[in-house]
Amino acid sequence: LPRVLSGIQPTADSFHLGNYLGALKDWVGLQDGHDALYFIPDLHAITMPQDPKLLAKRTRVSVAQLLAIGIDPNKSTLFVQSQVPQHAELAWVLNCLTGFGEASRMTQFKDKSAREGNEQASVGLFTYPILQAADILLYRAQLVPVGEDQRQHLELTRDLAQRFNTRYKKTFVVPDAHIIKGTAKIFDLQNPTAKMSKSAASDTGIINLLDDPKISAKRIKSAVTDTEREIRFDPATKPGVSNLLVILGALTGEPIETLETGYEGKGYGDLKGDVADALVEFVTPIQAQVTEFLADPAELDRILTIGAERARAIASVTLRQVYERVGFLTPK
Ligand code: TYM
Repeated sequence: LPRVLSGIQPTADSFHLGNYLGALKDWVGLQDGHDALYFIPDLHAITMPQDPKLLAKRTRVSVAQLLAIGIDPNKSTLFVQSQVPQHAELAWVLNCLTGFGEASRMTQFKDKSAREGNEQASVGLFTYPILQAADILLYRAQLVPVGEDQRQHLELTRDLAQRFNTRYKKTFVVPDAHIIKGTAKIFDLQNPTAKMSKSAASDTGIINLLDDPKISAKRIKSAVTDTEREIRFDPATKPGVSNLLVILGALTGEPIETLETGYEGKGYGDLKGDVADALVEFVTPIQAQVTEFLADPAELDRILTIGAERARAIASVTLRQVYERVGFLTPK
């Protein structure tokens, strides 16, 4: 079976709708017909300051959310990155294959470090994409389902795989990004030309899966639109309305064109009302499931223990090969 791998950071109290529609939705579908590995990159999380208690809590809530949206631990390998030491070990080797200039060109680093203040930004944040490459290459994943903002990290991963393969011996699979057409970039409701992001200055444009649905409905109803009246998909001139149409289409399964036709003669209030209803319907059962999973921490731990064991079994084979090819002595 072709192998799929992806991760989502435990750096917020909830996943947002961008995470779900841009990536997680496809994680669920890819479980069938693929050997899927999904994980919580807590090593990546600490590239920015984290409160330890909160990080542990958010890691659990992240796992519960993945289970709630339909990640099935009997089909997929579900694990926490720090429980598989090979990620950090391979990252070191890849750090030594990456040019300083090459790493300096990563736009997410530039954005995040500018926000932190360049002096405060950690060296971990700088090498973040190289650890991500290690995550992917360790498992020889072919397909990596992610949103648009991860495209550059995937390019670096491909470059590093090819570089290692040429310099030493063919070891890694060169992975492809699997980017969902149509929903790879969901926009902030208040600022519909910026992506929906947990690091936005204000929460009011973000739809979180675990927020009170009434709050989310309110946020949808105050989404920024435009001064026209026509409901039409046109991201260049109508970013707010187009974003709402994309969200509604993805939540209901209706093609955008069908939605456009249906809204002829109707107003933005109608569209917003329908998005809010669809959202409430979508998140309500997920929230109930998350509560259930969190009520049984022993079961959550059991799932993660099995996941980490499976992951280590694959990762240790790759790492052993890498170490040998680099010229490290095998411990006897
Ligand atoms: P993270 O945790 O920021 O986001 C998880 C996933 O959500 C997608 N995403 C979006 N998609 C559409 N619209 C948006 N507004 C939006 N915001 C976020 C992201 O593209 C991502 O797919 N570096 C990764 C985590 C990671 C990883 C990996 C991913 C670590 N190692 C290995 C894949 C493979 C990240 O920060 O995602």
